[in-house]
Amino acid sequence: MADYATEAREQHPLRRYSNIAVAFHWVTVALVLFQIWLGLSFADMAQGPERGELFAWHKTIGSIILLTVLARLTYRLQNPPPPYPPELPQWERIAGTWNHRLFYLLLIVMPIGGYLAVSGQSKGSTTELLGGLRIPVLPGISKQMGEFAGGVHELAAFLLIGLIALHVAAALKHQFVDRNRASGRMPPFKDPVDEPVVIGQGQEARSKAG
Ligand code: HEM
Repeated sequence: MADYATEAREQHPLRRYSNIAVAFHWVTVALVLFQIWLGLSFADMAQGPERGELFAWHKTIGSIILLTVLARLTYRLQNPPPPYPPELPQWERIAGTWNHRLFYLLLIVMPIGGYLAVSGQSKGSTTELLGGLRIPVLPGISKQMGEFAGGVHELAAFLLIGLIALHVAAALKHQFVDRNRASGRMPPFKDPVDEPVVIGQGQEARSKAG
């Protein structure tokens, strides 16, 4: 589907994501990688204080990821990303756009799935995060519903890992194989063709590009 989001525009210099979008991106990367490590670490552990501690971290980081991704999505809807440069083939623009959309979807579905799973197995009306902070669980979630949500959460985690692998492979391909300008759009990567790069986030950049 060639829509507005996958459109390419001639642009000299190259327009890149704004500093706010770049900060959101790299904070999300750090949080998500840490979260995946946490999830994989405690998944097979026997019940006990060590598992409980890692689980409290996992719930806390998951809550922060959800808040961050909602803030990021709100910012992005108000500030569309810069248009793709035309040297990026259309299939890559479409694949990239859908990869990004799926990231947003999974980063919302996963914390909500985790929250529902915790709600289904909770014996009280709250669950504990780091620092003894307690948040309410969702009432009315049966054990079965919680288990289903936990299954979705787990499946989504493997999908997310697959998406990350694809995404990183594409970024490295643009940087080192194609040496095209796409990798200059999300600093700290340097534009490989050494062309000046300017911040180009937003509607205005789209209409002025070219
Ligand atoms: C947890 C890991 C990651 C997640 C969840 C993630 C997510 C995203 C998302 C959602 C976008 C689109 C931004 C938008 O349009 O709103 C994006 C763009 C980008 N990411 Fe990542 N990313 C991850 C890791 C990485 C890594 C490790 C690299 C580099 C090796 C990277 C390089 C890039 C680049 C170059 C772009 C801009 C693509 C373009 O020109 O359109 N990302 N990322």
